[in-house]
Amino acid sequence: MMNTTDQQSKIVLVTGGSRGIGKSIALNAAKRGLGVILTYNSQPEQGQAVADEIKGNGGKAVALQLDSADTQSFSNFGKQILQVLGTEWGRENFDYLVNNAGIAQRTLIKDTTEELFDQLVNVNFKGVFFLTQKLLPLIADGGQIINISSGLARFAFPGVAVYGALKAATEGLTRYFAKEYADRKIRVNTVAPGAIDTEFGGGKGDEDHKQQLASAIALGIEIAGGIMI
Ligand SMILES: NC(=O)c1ccc[n+]([C@@H]2O[C@H](COP(=O)([O-])OP(=O)(O)OC[C@H]3O[C@@H](n4cnc5c(N)ncnc54)[C@H](OP(=O)(O)O)[C@@H]3O)[C@@H](O)[C@H]2O)c1
Repeated sequence: MMNTTDQQSKIVLVTGGSRGIGKSIALNAAKRGLGVILTYNSQPEQGQAVADEIKGNGGKAVALQLDSADTQSFSNFGKQILQVLGTEWGRENFDYLVNNAGIAQRTLIKDTTEELFDQLVNVNFKGVFFLTQKLLPLIADGGQIINISSGLARFAFPGVAVYGALKAATEGLTRYFAKEYADRKIRVNTVAPGAIDTEFGGGKGDEDHKQQLASAIALGIEIAGGIMI
């Protein structure tokens, strides 16, 4: 993204912006002067709290409900976005989409049910594809899409086979979206975080899991201010 001065009139939509990494993206975007539309799924109060924090600091933010697995709701979500853009910003489009919402898996291949498989596909892959497809007409030419992947797309770790494979698939999708929307000068990129200590997949407290993750990273993991680095 560009420098702070250039960002004053820009708008970012962050899915899953109510907690964890998405919350951090939303708060930091607002600090740079961007208008923020963030989504929550099951916890409206968390979404509203992030929007209120941004507004309390002099920024502009709106929290909306979105279930990435519910593709049928995307048309209506697009209409909500259009309405919010008009009322809050007097615009008909926004600049940046961060596809951050995601769910985790900690189940070995032998125990992975078809139901869990479908859940992971719907939120982490199918939802990303169809939400982006639906929102592209609302993204300004020259805008940007960032798909949040994971280090687990790039190395294998027991218990996350479907999750890791879907993140790798999302990285593939990223290149295809970039190719097909290059004529509109829309950049599409992946960010693949390492282990971040959020409430992801049930959250904190699993020291064995952290040690296992640390062993897969050359410099290990240090806990710093709640963030595993
Ligand atoms: N944490 C890590 O170590 C790590 C590492 C690499 C990549 N990532 C990726 O980073 C992204 C964010 O992870 P996180 O750790 O910040 O997760 P998190 O703390 O569990 O937060 C998840 C966010 O996604 C929303 N969400 C959950 N299910 C959803 C659904 N079906 N539809 C729409 N939104 C939904 C949640 O909203 P509600 O609370 O309202 O349900 C929440 O805002 C994910 O894509 C994850 O794969 C995480």
